[in-house]
Amino acid sequence: MNARTSYTPLSTNPNLLKWVEKIAELTKPAAIHWVDGSQEENDALCAQMVAAGTFVKLNEKLWPGCHYARSDASDVARVEDRTFICSLSKDNAGPTNNWVEPFQMRKKLKEIFSGCMAGRTMYVLPFSMGPLGSPISQLGVEITDSPYVVVNMRIMARIGLPVLKEIDKNEKRVVPCVHSVGAPLAPGAKDSAWPCNKEKYIVHFPETREIWSYGSGYGGNALLGKKCFALRIASNMARDEGWMAEHMLILGVEDPKGEKTYVAAAFPSACGKTNFAMLIPPAPFRDKGWKIWTVGDDIAWIKPDANGRLHAINPEAGFFGVAPGTSDKTNPNAMVALSKNTIFTNVALTPEGGVWWEGMTETPPAELIDWQGNRWTPAIAKETGAKAAHANARFTAPASQCPTIDPAWESPEGVPISAIIFGGRRATTMPLVYQAFNWSAGVYTGATMGSEMTAAAAGTIGKVRRDPFAMLPFCGYHMGDYFRHWIKMQKALSETPRIFHVNWFRKDADGRFIWPGFGDNMRILKWIVDRARGRALSKETPIGWQPRYDDIDWTGCGFSRDQFDALQAVDRAAWRVEVMGHEELFLDLHDHLPKEMVYERELLICRL
Ligand code: OXD
Ligand code: MN
Repeated sequence: MNARTSYTPLSTNPNLLKWVEKIAELTKPAAIHWVDGSQEENDALCAQMVAAGTFVKLNEKLWPGCHYARSDASDVARVEDRTFICSLSKDNAGPTNNWVEPFQMRKKLKEIFSGCMAGRTMYVLPFSMGPLGSPISQLGVEITDSPYVVVNMRIMARIGLPVLKEIDKNEKRVVPCVHSVGAPLAPGAKDSAWPCNKEKYIVHFPETREIWSYGSGYGGNALLGKKCFALRIASNMARDEGWMAEHMLILGVEDPKGEKTYVAAAFPSACGKTNFAMLIPPAPFRDKGWKIWTVGDDIAWIKPDANGRLHAINPEAGFFGVAPGTSDKTNPNAMVALSKNTIFTNVALTPEGGVWWEGMTETPPAELIDWQGNRWTPAIAKETGAKAAHANARFTAPASQCPTIDPAWESPEGVPISAIIFGGRRATTMPLVYQAFNWSAGVYTGATMGSEMTAAAAGTIGKVRRDPFAMLPFCGYHMGDYFRHWIKMQKALSETPRIFHVNWFRKDADGRFIWPGFGDNMRILKWIVDRARGRALSKETPIGWQPRYDDIDWTGCGFSRDQFDALQAVDRAAWRVEVMGHEELFLDLHDHLPKEMVYERELLICRL
């Protein structure tokens, strides 16, 4: 069968047809499948993966419409050290990205993609990041040899025929994305349940807006609409076109008058973005009429509207959430969202055909099959320390299934953003909350964000890693220029969102978290929203505006004035060390650092 003639293209766009031909010529698939995005197609792909051993269909009564996959043990997370920004000049990628000269990289890609889809079906997957037809949305086509990627992308993005209709109009640029698991199949050879290659390349060409991914089938390495497109390539588009592509959740706070205030928040991984996006306020707040609405949990595309007000969309259509730690206690809304039509990867399998992960219930089931396919019991875990689920095990769940999904989450014009929150995991130094004095001080706050490394990551535990705007692995160009872009954005705005910093993770001298977190974060969020609307008081401190104890609504909470003062303390000696940490980052970026960052640092030093 000749791959080039073995399919009926679903598009009439000559550029797309030519490109698909070219990639088929290079990768030599056995067949080509144009993805229409239908339920029937999805069911057939899932059934095909069940037969191949990639998927287990979960118990339909317990987990309707759900499937389970176990990855290869070597392919379990994003590979930052194999992620490349191949801009024409190295200087454009900056010191925080891996760079390879684009001509060299193209040569390498040609070599590894040659014949890499042999024996496999090549899927042509049209997708839209953001609601179809929204002026903020963007179109892409992912060519992939992984049906797992197709069914995950169907949840994470808008895909299929309606997108092709847009592409056929030939009015919008389309981002070409090529993905291969890098495991060609010889005739008659048996496939593995999770094909992949130990050599991995996640490559971005920012100038030509192209993505090439090889060797991995997992998450952000393979679902190219997410980190590769919606952050790394989109951050380049945003800089060129005057908007912002950010690693931020978006939520709406409804007050007792029924007025909604939308907030975007950037936290590094493992700092509770999904939980915050789906927060349930404490009972006294709920009784008064406060409610949180979810727009997105990971990425925000933010653009000034015709009146100079920032509006944000969630470019994604699903949640690719970390399963361990998610429970009816920590995030009941996420548990409902993932209760049906969800794909689980690298969690544990129960004998009833259900799933489990650490933290889902207090008492683990008596017996499980762990994420590596081995028998697991609490006794075995005690003896060997084996985890039932991988620490980065994920659920892929439709956003529409979240009980708190905002009615405006698919609004083409996005939602108006009144406040931006930055945050990290900091045992010391950073108070619970403060508000930056103004936009440039706020940009400084985002630029100098840090988070303590946890036991899960390589490195010194407790050491603060600077993760500017939570974008360290996701900014597709020079980080110093990205700060400059943030500074410049103010010029396009008639009204700037207020900027805040929060830290839910401050510890006392005995190493215990001082702040209860979760639902009680609503108390702080209320102050933030009230500040953004000009209806809350605060006091001036060297680092910004801070609420006093009496500025926070403590109804139904026994948190004392002393505890609050400990949480909010600005320790000048600790802040001197903190500022030295900012300088270390600035030294790396010095030749692209906007002068505002230097001035803000000087002002901060003076105030301290
Ligand atoms: C994610 C991440 O998967 O930030 O969202 O790593
Ligand atoms: Mn993320």
